[in-house]
Parts: sequence; structure tokens; C-alpha cells
Amino acid sequence: METVVSGIRSTGKLHLGNFYGAVKNFVQMQNEFNCYFFIADFHSLTTHPTPEDLHGNVKQVLIEYLAAGIDPEKATIYVQSDVPEIAELYLYLNMNAYLGELERSTSFKDKVRAHPDNVNAGLLTYPVLMAADILIHKATKVPVGKDQEQHLEMARTFGNRFNRLYNNEYFPEPFAFNFTEKLVKVPGLDGKGKMGKSEGEGNAVYLSDEPEIIRKKVMRAVSDSGPTEENQAKPESIQNLFDLMKIVSPLSTYEHFDNLYNTCEIRYGDFKKQLAEDMIIATAPMRERINEIAKDETYLRQVARFGAIKARESASKTIREVREIIGFKNF
Ligand code: ADP
Ligand code: TRP
Repeated sequence: METVVSGIRSTGKLHLGNFYGAVKNFVQMQNEFNCYFFIADFHSLTTHPTPEDLHGNVKQVLIEYLAAGIDPEKATIYVQSDVPEIAELYLYLNMNAYLGELERSTSFKDKVRAHPDNVNAGLLTYPVLMAADILIHKATKVPVGKDQEQHLEMARTFGNRFNRLYNNEYFPEPFAFNFTEKLVKVPGLDGKGKMGKSEGEGNAVYLSDEPEIIRKKVMRAVSDSGPTEENQAKPESIQNLFDLMKIVSPLSTYEHFDNLYNTCEIRYGDFKKQLAEDMIIATAPMRERINEIAKDETYLRQVARFGAIKARESASKTIREVREIIGFKNF
């Protein structure tokens, strides 16, 4: 059976973009593949969270993974820092990752532009750590969004380079993968671009948002003064709201409002109210489970410990073999 590895950085609550773009597919994949889903807390250190924030964020993502339906009996769900073998593989891979190629990575260049005061070595070698995450379980399938494709290419480069250096076919090639074949891009509420937690207040709807908050965010979403001609093309802000409706509402609701738009009879107040109610319905079961699971510290501890044991079984086997290939020997 093929192995799947995917992680989400522990930088806080999950939004609808994370859910529909990634986590929803994880839930389907766990029935068909040997899945490892982890919370990338080593990766989150590039932005220097406080110890309280670090732990709180890891816990939140763990709770929301479980609330979304990841089953610890089917998939291995673990916290990255519970598996020190990943850090060891990262060290080995760093020895044949070259400065030039790391500097050319798009995400590195974006980060340098956005935060010129915090260009640390961890940021530079982020793709090496990500390669270690994947290669530690010898995974071939990596469910991620389009923005991560270059990182996957680098993971293949580092794995292949290791294989060549030691004249060994040890690591298989991992590829970006989307379970449903088409990549989903969930738009945000601010009239442009995707939903994301770094896009500013009000852009993202979180799985844990209370109904009143969801209503407020949607009612405040950017729109315009309405169509003036029949079958007029939709501007981005309106298209985004329709795209969101297509994701969370029944098709008949989407078609109803699409018709009203095309005949210039749409009232954005009603449209947004419906969108908000359907988002509330789509997230309600998760919100309830989030609140329930969050209270159960014993369960969370059990899940994290069980996941760490399973992940370390696979990771320590790889590290044992990698050490042997590299030539470390016991005296
Ligand atoms: P963010 O962009 O909010 O910081 P992350 O970078 O932690 O989120 O992304 C975690 C996962 O969620 C990745 O696989 C990413 O592709 C997916 N993802 C994030 N935002 C969206 C979105 N708006 N639409 C689809 N997928 C998304
Ligand atoms: N870089 C990914 C992101 O920002 C998160 C991630 C870290 C990851 N390690 C991974 C994803 C390994 C898949 C596999 O979304």
C-alpha cells in the first residue's frame, strides 16, 4: 500500500480553506492509504512563537484534525516534535542541500520580502525539513495545495541526491497529490485572493467560529452595488462569494442565487444571509466536536502518545537504515 504524508503548520485554528483544501481529503484518504498526518510544530518555530502559544496551537490543530474526522485508529496522527528522527534526517539532508537552490525557492523569496528582519537559517532550510518529514516514512503521495509543488520537487531532488551519493535506491520519489483530482482554492471574504490566516481580520472563517461570528464576517464581506445588466460577468469579490456558496451550500441554493444575479434581482443581504447559514450548517458538527474534544485532555494525550509511538516505529526504521547507508557504525 502506498504511503501518504501531510502536515499543517501549527500556527493556530483551521479555516475553511485548510478544511476544504486539505483536511477533508485527509479524512477520505485514511481509508485507502497508509497515512501519516502530523502537526508541523518544528516548522512553526521560524516565526518564534512563545512557549504558551506553541503548545496551545499544537493542541488546537490536534483537536481540529480529530473533529474533522481523522481517525487515529486508521491514520497515524502525531506531533512532529515527538519524532526526533525527523530532525536527525533533516541534519543529514542538509549536508547535500545547496545554498543556491535554497535561495531560489519561491516561498523563501516571498518570506524574505515579507519579513526582511527575520531571514533565519530555519527559513532557508524549510524545504529540507519538509523533505525529511516526507522521506522519513518513504512516502510517495503528499496531499498539498498548489503552492507546495516546488517544495515537493525539492524533496525529490534531496532524496535522489542521497540515493546517488550512496549509490542506493533507498528513497522513493514523492509527488504532490490531490485525492479528488482537482485542486480546490477556497476564496476569502475580503474580495480578493484565497482564504488564509495571514490575509487579515475577517478574511477567514474558522471551523471553531461561533454562528454569530460567521454571520458578522459574511455580512461584512466585500461586495458591490449589484448587477445592472442581465448575465453580466461577476467581479472577483462577488465571484468569490459564489465560489464559497458552491462549496458549502446545496447546488440548488447556488443555482437559485446565480439565476437571481443573472436577472439582476439578487439582493446581497439575502444572498449573504443564506451563505452564512450554510457555512454554519457545514461547520456545526465540527464546532460541536471541537468543543467536546477540547475538554477531553485524557483522550488528547492518548491520541498524541499513540501517534508518536506509531510514527516513531516507521521513522526509527528509516533512521537505522540511513545510518547504515551513510556508514555510521557502533564500536
Ligand atoms: P495558511 O495559508 O492559512 O497559512 P497553511 O499554509 O498552513 O494555511 O496551509 C495548510 C494546508 O491548507 C495546505 O495544504 C494548503 O494548501 C491548504 N490551504 C490553505 N489555504 C487554502 C485555501 N484558501 N484554499 C485551499 N487550500 C488551502
Ligand atoms: N509546508 C506545508 C505548508 O505550509 C506544511 C508541511 C510541512 C508539509 N511539512 C510537510 C506538508 C510535509 C506536507 C508534507 O502547508
